[in-house]
Amino acid sequence: MVLTVRNVRKSYGQLEVLDSISFEVEEGNFACIVGESGCGKTTLLKIIAGIEKADEGDILYNGKPIRNEDIGYVFQDDRLLPWRNAIENVSFALEMRGIKNSDKAERYLELVGLKGFERYYPHQLSGGMRQRVGICRALAVNPKILLMDEPFASLDAQTRNRMQTELLRIWDKDRKTVIFVTHSIDEAVFLADEIVVLSKRPAKVIDVVRIDMERPRDRTDERFIEYRRRVLKHLSS
Ligand SMILES: Nc1ncnc2c1ncn2[C@@H]1O[C@H](COP(=O)(O)OP(=O)(O)OP(=O)(O)O)[C@@H](O)[C@H]1O
Ligand SMILES: [Mg+2]
Repeated sequence: MVLTVRNVRKSYGQLEVLDSISFEVEEGNFACIVGESGCGKTTLLKIIAGIEKADEGDILYNGKPIRNEDIGYVFQDDRLLPWRNAIENVSFALEMRGIKNSDKAERYLELVGLKGFERYYPHQLSGGMRQRVGICRALAVNPKILLMDEPFASLDAQTRNRMQTELLRIWDKDRKTVIFVTHSIDEAVFLADEIVVLSKRPAKVIDVVRIDMERPRDRTDERFIEYRRRVLKHLSS
């Protein structure tokens, strides 16, 4: 099984955003996408999810068009329902698929450190906490493919590192195919099996860096630093 992005092009009017993007992610692999602000990462993720339409090209899962129910999406902005508390936001995603299971929602909230905050409404949670509710909501429906758009951007360094480790632990359990957008090269090298490096807009794939290091990865390891350097070189040129 493989997720294929093939020759995807997208413009918004005169603004050319994606210029023939192609790459593949093997089922169960963790891919990160990096590229500078405004290059088209969110646009690409939305096209993969079917929220936006490409002008040209295909998104295929095992050779067939991707199905909406295969996908879990963690948005760059949290998009929680303000009139539902944390646990109700997570169970809403389940209800949409005809599942009534608040135990499951509760378990996921506990997993991301939100025990005790189940009945808090979005406006009573911090930005990082709202993001974590968003992650629970995407995970709870047990998608085959998990698309994550800078989910840890609003977290402090310590919580961020803890969430990275937590995400890898969850991922390791049932090996979903993950596409994770981040600005942080350090985060990408820590998480990914492969890093897809995008150029400035209109975005092209300039490199796919395979990270051949055992997990959990040591950020002070020579190889880690070398991988960081390789990705950074592309982005600063
Ligand atoms: N709905 C839209 N209509 C018009 N232009 C859009 C639309 N969505 C995105 N764009 C433009 O497409 C370009 C890429 O936006 P996108 O959100 O994909 O960037 P990004 O790589 O995710 O950036 P960031 O890292 O800041 O989140 C930007 O120039 C943006 O203005
Ligand atoms: Mg974005």
